[in-house]
Amino acid sequence: MKVTVVGAGNVGATCADVLAHREIANEIVLLDIKPGFAEGKALDIWQTAPINLYDSRTVGSTNDYAATANSDVVVITSGLPRKPGMSRDDLIATNAGIVKSVTENIVKYSPDAIIVIVSNPLDVMTYCAFLAAKVDSKKVFGMAGILDTARYRAFIASELNCSPKDIQAVLMGGHGDTMVPLPRYTTVGGIPVTELISEEKLNAIVDRTKTGGGEIVNLLGTSAWYAPGAAAAQMVEAIVRDQKRIFPVCALLNGEYGMKDIYLGVPVKLGKNGIEEIIELKLNDSEKALLASSATSVKEVMGVLDSMNLF
Ligand code: LAC
Repeated sequence: MKVTVVGAGNVGATCADVLAHREIANEIVLLDIKPGFAEGKALDIWQTAPINLYDSRTVGSTNDYAATANSDVVVITSGLPRKPGMSRDDLIATNAGIVKSVTENIVKYSPDAIIVIVSNPLDVMTYCAFLAAKVDSKKVFGMAGILDTARYRAFIASELNCSPKDIQAVLMGGHGDTMVPLPRYTTVGGIPVTELISEEKLNAIVDRTKTGGGEIVNLLGTSAWYAPGAAAAQMVEAIVRDQKRIFPVCALLNGEYGMKDIYLGVPVKLGKNGIEEIIELKLNDSEKALLASSATSVKEVMGVLDSMNLF
């Protein structure tokens, strides 16, 4: 299996490192526009192989898309990250053009690849990649829900002083402050979380989750990378190993949840064909309202993309 990661910054390099270390792909290409950057990161990752005892080979390339030819999966992390005070949506002016041209280059050399978008603003950049790729939407989708539920699950594990392994959760909507964590669908070792944590504390955890990316931007001065990189690698693993895992993924809706022509976080089944099924939960009225308001925020940013006349 060959996997390309475009963008050798913090998120892309972390993703490539996890892919290599866990032998999710035997050939990993890291590509970046900055001369020598991807080669340097790839060499450093490859030099961990004798220490961490794995065979996967990571190579770097400065913007030579021929090196990415015939990739099975491509992860696109290109674009600027946030700085303190910025929302993810503030990045659209720079990142839309980058994601468009990267996607076009990728599809030229790997027309059958499954494409996972990580660039922000995530939902709209995934839509942008779909327009640029001109392939089935089952093969172009975005990583946000695994990251956002990981934050939510980590906060619950801290609150209960229990293993994060036992916490299962689903979260829907856009990758922004309007995301919709769903306590009604959250369990701890099979026990509904609502039986273990008070409503007040759970609301505080939900609120912290919604701004979880911003919390890290404020601490670091730039956006997170360990959890985003690992989350993207987990999606790649589900695809290359045909695991049929159920994850929240940013997917194109075509009537599901009563919406069309919008990329939004929903639970899906992920396997070798990409999105193999979109799962429709029976949301209650307040959950539906939260999802609708998240969709409205994403549509506003889609309007900005439209006004850029890139397509
Ligand atoms: C975050 C960025 C990667 O949520 O969107 O940390």
